[in-house]
Amino acid sequence: ALTEDTIIIVLGASGDLAKKKTYPALFGLYRQGLLPKGVKIVGYARTKMDDAEYHKRITSYLKNIDSDEDKAALEEFKKLSSYVAGGYEDDASFQNLNKSLEAIESTYESGVAHRLFYLALPPSVFIPVAHHLKVNNYSRRGINRIIVEKPFGKDLQSCRELLGALKENWTEDETFRIDHYLGKEMVKNILVLRFANVAMGAAWDKNSISNVQITFKEPFGTEGRGGYFDEFGIIRDILQNHLLQVLSVLTMERPVSFSAEDIRDEKVKVLRAIPPIEASETLLGQYVAANGKPGYLDDDTVPHNSVCPTFAATTLWIHNPRWEGVPFILKAGKALNEAKVEVRIQFKDVTQGIFKDISRNELVLRIQPSEAVYLKLNAKTPGLKTRALPTEMDLTYKRRFADSKIPEAYEALILDALKGDHSNFVRDDELDVAWKIFTPILHWIEGKNGPAPKPVGYPYGSRGPKELDAFVEKYGYKRSDAAYAWPVTSLS
Ligand code: BG6
Repeated sequence: ALTEDTIIIVLGASGDLAKKKTYPALFGLYRQGLLPKGVKIVGYARTKMDDAEYHKRITSYLKNIDSDEDKAALEEFKKLSSYVAGGYEDDASFQNLNKSLEAIESTYESGVAHRLFYLALPPSVFIPVAHHLKVNNYSRRGINRIIVEKPFGKDLQSCRELLGALKENWTEDETFRIDHYLGKEMVKNILVLRFANVAMGAAWDKNSISNVQITFKEPFGTEGRGGYFDEFGIIRDILQNHLLQVLSVLTMERPVSFSAEDIRDEKVKVLRAIPPIEASETLLGQYVAANGKPGYLDDDTVPHNSVCPTFAATTLWIHNPRWEGVPFILKAGKALNEAKVEVRIQFKDVTQGIFKDISRNELVLRIQPSEAVYLKLNAKTPGLKTRALPTEMDLTYKRRFADSKIPEAYEALILDALKGDHSNFVRDDELDVAWKIFTPILHWIEGKNGPAPKPVGYPYGSRGPKELDAFVEKYGYKRSDAAYAWPVTSLS
């Protein structure tokens, strides 16, 4: 583990990812005393600026610095952070970076010099940067690690090319591929919920479960990121990685141990039992202007005739004895009516006879916002009548674990990378199977085998395409009793 004398080098330090995620996570870890002793952070990007300007930027990335302790910590954090400007494609720039790293390391008394490279970069410079880092910036006196992020290619072949190019310079052990959904508390909780509870484990298969939905909803469009997004679309942005990762943890067999390889072996095994998605089982949407908000095509950075989906619902099938016949519906959309990510497991109907048309059990894992696990179940209506009433058992984290701080996904993952724990990172063969499942549908959407399908429009701020309700019903989802709603607790 990297516990001392480590430099964290953030490449792409002035970009969106660094701003929104990397720096806040680094500061969060620093604030909690979780970064290595003697840690230094070096930002690197093309923009020319001095340390003072860079510190001003870092500060603007961080939110909620209110207390005196926070302010003092920020001052300390600035002291250990510096900046180097340079290009992404030439040795000279990286040698210049190396001089700065060596100057810092000359102050380390231990004689070791660990380096953690964090690539918060656009995919176009991914390969040259990984190569230049190896050639010019590889520490001979300590451990080197590299953190990379999606997009890992655009389909099976381009992913293989990208991973292959990275492997020429970095070993699997040194490489940490982020899917930040694996760092989320509730996603990590799936393993415990499933395998530490006999009651859950017993119901976790086709005998009890009718259908599963994994849903991602965002209340905003691609504002400002349209140019990037249009090349990828919602399936590559969310389904092929984040939602598929959730699916694999939800459906894998029990791993032999908590070790990274045991867990990832099981994930790969279940993913291999999923055939490629069918066009006939996919619903695509694109948001249009509504309620004073612009449509996707109104974004200047998007081609005016783009058929890029900003919403997709698709059904996956797992051909193994546990899951045969259970539809797994993945749904994701931008510019919807709310922000919510959840897994909804709907159980089968209870045997009729003494009951008729009563609600199904549903187990919901709410990943965000406000983490919760709740089980919708029927209880007797209190009073003198014997009638079933849908109600719930509710584990809302803010109430039950009021004093716990739930770490940000990126905090958890950067800490894992420092420790050298790969469990919550994506292995190369996981990516390979993930792309096998999605590549044919993506090629169809792009019109590689005929005319490109046109997504259906849905208004900005709506629940999605109006065809969605019929879509999920087709796979057996039964809407609950109209009168029932989980009482979302507004504890904040
Ligand atoms: C990213 C996507 O991977 O995840 C974004 O590229 C999306 O489009 C984001 O907004 C969502 O992450 P989170 O943690 O806010 O749910």
